[in-house]
Amino acid sequence: MRRRNNMNQNLTISRTFRRYSFYLFTILVFTACHSRRIVTPQNNGETIIAPSDELPNLNGDPEKGFDYIYYGDYVKSGYPLKLALGDSFDPAQVWDKDTIKTRFGKAVNLFTDRRNISVMSGSCMTCHGSELNGQYYPGLGEAFGNYTKKPNFKFRLTAMVVKRKLGKNSQEYQSFKDIWQFQKEVSPRIVTPFVGPNPAFRLEEACVAFRDPVDLHYTSKAQFDIEGETPAADVPPLWHVGKKRTLYYNGMGRGSFSKLLMQASVLGVKDSTEAREVWQHFQDVVAWAAQLKPPAFPADINQELAIQGQKVFEKNCSKCHGTYGAEISYPNKIIPLDKIGTDPYYAQYFATQSGLAGWYNKSWFSQSEPISTLQPSLGYVAPPLDGIWATAPYLHNGSVPTLGHLLNSSTRPGFWQRDTISSNYDTEQVGWKIITHQKPINKKVYDTSRKGFNNQGHTYGDKLSGEERSAVIEYLKTL
Ligand code: HEC
Ligand code: HEC
Repeated sequence: MRRRNNMNQNLTISRTFRRYSFYLFTILVFTACHSRRIVTPQNNGETIIAPSDELPNLNGDPEKGFDYIYYGDYVKSGYPLKLALGDSFDPAQVWDKDTIKTRFGKAVNLFTDRRNISVMSGSCMTCHGSELNGQYYPGLGEAFGNYTKKPNFKFRLTAMVVKRKLGKNSQEYQSFKDIWQFQKEVSPRIVTPFVGPNPAFRLEEACVAFRDPVDLHYTSKAQFDIEGETPAADVPPLWHVGKKRTLYYNGMGRGSFSKLLMQASVLGVKDSTEAREVWQHFQDVVAWAAQLKPPAFPADINQELAIQGQKVFEKNCSKCHGTYGAEISYPNKIIPLDKIGTDPYYAQYFATQSGLAGWYNKSWFSQSEPISTLQPSLGYVAPPLDGIWATAPYLHNGSVPTLGHLLNSSTRPGFWQRDTISSNYDTEQVGWKIITHQKPINKKVYDTSRKGFNNQGHTYGDKLSGEERSAVIEYLKTL
């Protein structure tokens, strides 16, 4: 079934500015729904099935949600616009919604902060909007993020410029400090070994570690230690939110989706009073994400082959990934690490090493209505596969470049890089056209020998014949 993403915005993107804006205002993270207590039943001691009564809050208004994500002030602090635009800056000239995004790029939000200063900041779309075949899709994960360098120096330089140009006592500098105090903690901690994997939860850890859990105000002393390799993941598409009863790769996001989704605010909000104000809008944001549809496959599909593929899929894959088309079902399963066999680090890190869940579960996010909690598991969610053709690379760590490689584990490359341009999509193997290497020659090369980035596991396609595999891939194009 072909479905169109009804909220596509055909906007010209400024990649350079976007990257720049990211360095300046790294932000954001996660969210989701009700305040019922959540019990996680065990199934045969192996597979945990998340409860099905936790429906996303659909009372919100999707249009308003989209508007808030794109233009809203959920980060609350930012970089003074006056500096970006020079002394002749006239807010009236840039404040028109239609020109803001074309001027600054989609990943940036401009707003008036608590001191009435015009500022700009990163947004959800820094990571959750991306281009494919020249078309921009809100909700498609950004797979080109470059977190290989410590942005610390750039942050410091920016702080210096603001101070020098506008003065230590200026309202602008005070405003910038609101966000800078967290960024200086974040920047040394989010470095990844190569381009692509996204350290969003590490970013979250580094912000909340310097916040009082109950009131969320800044504390100069860390609430917990942050150690170990940067946990980083491929950015998932937002159009799965409507089917999910838990969020995140390890299923740790439980309870209120609207609370979980607003975690990005921890970069800039002053306290829980401001957080509550942001939360009011996130019921709309959840409603927006819940109705989001994946884009349709852009090339011809062999319908006969796809019908054969559906049979193979329903026999071999549906028990974990659900059914599509006329009869839609999705079981919301978390598969334990020893069964799924994919790289264990990400799940293990949050379940056994990170202080994030401990902080979160005694924080405003969890202690005030509606309740959300983080319950990390030693496993990975079998995700819905709607629009899976568009979301390469595959697996939680993005270690597998195409569906062809995913379904035939012996063919997965150890060192590979994307064949650079976003329009270069492989519609046969479905995923990225790649160049392989004998060793990691630079930071553009995905290196599966690094901790957390192994491409092992999920071998369910190995036992299929070549024809069956082609048929399944043809079927996956229709989802
Ligand atoms: C710095 C990049 C970044 C930013 C900014 C960001 N996210 Fe994410 N987001 C991620 C990554 C990476 C994941 C995957 C983490 C995981 O699932 O363990 C994720 C996961 C999610 C998920 C869970 C999806 C699923 O299928 O389980 C939702 C929903 C989400 N983000 C919404 C948002 C919203 C809304 C915002 C803005 C308020 C936001 N994110 C900001 C990177 C980001
Ligand atoms: C026992 C449960 C199970 C079975 C059976 C199964 N999968 Fe999966 N699948 C998973 C889990 C869990 C993941 C996530 C693993 C990870 O990210 O580390 C996954 C991931 C995937 C992904 C990548 C998703 C993404 O966003 O990167 C695709 C595609 C996929 N499976 C397709 C299939 C197909 C096709 C079959 C049948 C041939 C199949 N799976 C059989 C559990 C299963």
